[in-house]
Amino acid sequence: METSTDVKRLREAFRAAGQEQVFRFWDGLNAEERAQLAAEAAEVDLDEVAHLVKTLVLKTPVAMDDFSGLAPAPVIALPEHGGNEAEWAEAKLAGEEALRAGKVAAFTVAGGQGTRLGFAGPKGLYPATPVKEKSLFQVFAEKLRSAERRYGCRLPWLIMTSHLNHEETEAFFRKNRYFGLDAEQVRFFRQGRMPAVDFEGRILLAGRASIALSPDGHGGSLRALKVSGSLDWLESLGIEVISYFQVDNPLVQCIDPEFIGFHLRSGSEMSSKMIPKAYPDEKVGNFCLHHGKLVVIEYSDLPKALEQRTEPDGSLSFRAGSIAIHLLSTRFVRSIGGGKPGLVLPFHRANKKVETVDDAGKPLVPADPNGIKFELFVFDALPFAQNPIVVETAREREFSPIKNKEGVDSAESSRRDQVRLFARWLRLAGVDVRSDAAGEPTLQIEVSPLFATSESEFLERWQGLETKPAVTDPFYLE
Ligand code: UD1
Repeated sequence: METSTDVKRLREAFRAAGQEQVFRFWDGLNAEERAQLAAEAAEVDLDEVAHLVKTLVLKTPVAMDDFSGLAPAPVIALPEHGGNEAEWAEAKLAGEEALRAGKVAAFTVAGGQGTRLGFAGPKGLYPATPVKEKSLFQVFAEKLRSAERRYGCRLPWLIMTSHLNHEETEAFFRKNRYFGLDAEQVRFFRQGRMPAVDFEGRILLAGRASIALSPDGHGGSLRALKVSGSLDWLESLGIEVISYFQVDNPLVQCIDPEFIGFHLRSGSEMSSKMIPKAYPDEKVGNFCLHHGKLVVIEYSDLPKALEQRTEPDGSLSFRAGSIAIHLLSTRFVRSIGGGKPGLVLPFHRANKKVETVDDAGKPLVPADPNGIKFELFVFDALPFAQNPIVVETAREREFSPIKNKEGVDSAESSRRDQVRLFARWLRLAGVDVRSDAAGEPTLQIEVSPLFATSESEFLERWQGLETKPAVTDPFYLE
């Protein structure tokens, strides 16, 4: 905030918007606190908040009230599930060509708070691998280095952080010398923030001199790419395809030539990967067509009857689960929020416990949800994209996220899935991997992405080894 006139104007705007409570402790704040509150207030788009209060707070929103036009989305199946092998081969060639031509960049969304995991710190720092306990960020960095080596290209890597974890994330990369990448090819930027409101739509304070602001959801990445100048940077490098993935999945193929090839050959502006759901109510989004437009319906929003519906052969009708891996064309990202008419992502509402202050300015930790947060979801861009496609991948090769402390989608289940995958590669190479009666490997195995990132690459490199290493427990191959 520059001058006292600016602050006056800001306060006046908040008053006019019915949000004057944000400044209720102003008279008792010192200069530094006033500057902080004013800066945060300036970040708030009051018109946007007013619109959200009207549409999502004072009204009970329905995610979708018309399920009549809903159908399962078409999927490009894996060759082993009936997909056309020649098309997969052609896609691979097209993807490899784009990679060699330096048209692809990687993009990790890492702004989430990782509340369910209960890990203090950015999730990307979480020790994810079974033997070396490499962090998620190290795994991705090594996958990118491996792709660079393979395609002789340089892969710019964007990492979206939030205000809560930005410094710590950057410091981690500096400390680890960018895991062998060049500092200049990795670019960090913060996502936007949204204020939380109470059930009457009043913006909540987190303290006497601060607003309860939180990350605006992974969909905020699309606007943050622009605001931060990251999209300009990608365009200046000649990037056409952005490979988007979440920070929580160590099995992700950060760079997948076949996926890239399908995306380019179909003229798609936004492509997605799916896996067949393991069971009807698996907690993943569902790819569907809604009146002909591709959409993702969250697991919590799909009506039970549709979730359980099966085909004559017994398979699930709505089986295409989203694993939050997408390709976005830079041109498409440029068109969002301008360019394409009407291309503005909708916000979603979530009731949350928001730490705030009472009328005396004392901290108040609520036992029950007392406020509403607003979030954007990246998959809401799908219905706006030209020729969007959904491509199948295999769960065991590509999806085992770390979301929870224990049980499903935990560090333990993810490490187990990584060991299973590496054991599978070794077995295919003819190595006898010790296992129990159920075929479960009984030793810890880890293959560095610098050795191989896929089954075919593993077999190729293993065959090329003059002396094959003995498989010990634990076993690590780089
Ligand atoms: C998400 C998807 C779900 C998908 C599943 C696959 C949503 C609403 N659901 O579920 O459809 O099947 O992943 O694993 O997205 N993030 C940010 N900024 C934010 C919020 C999140 O960068 O403001 C990032 C997180 O760091 C993480 C990712 O987005 O990398 C996913 O966020 P999370 O809230 O954990 O999604 P899920 O509910 O697990």
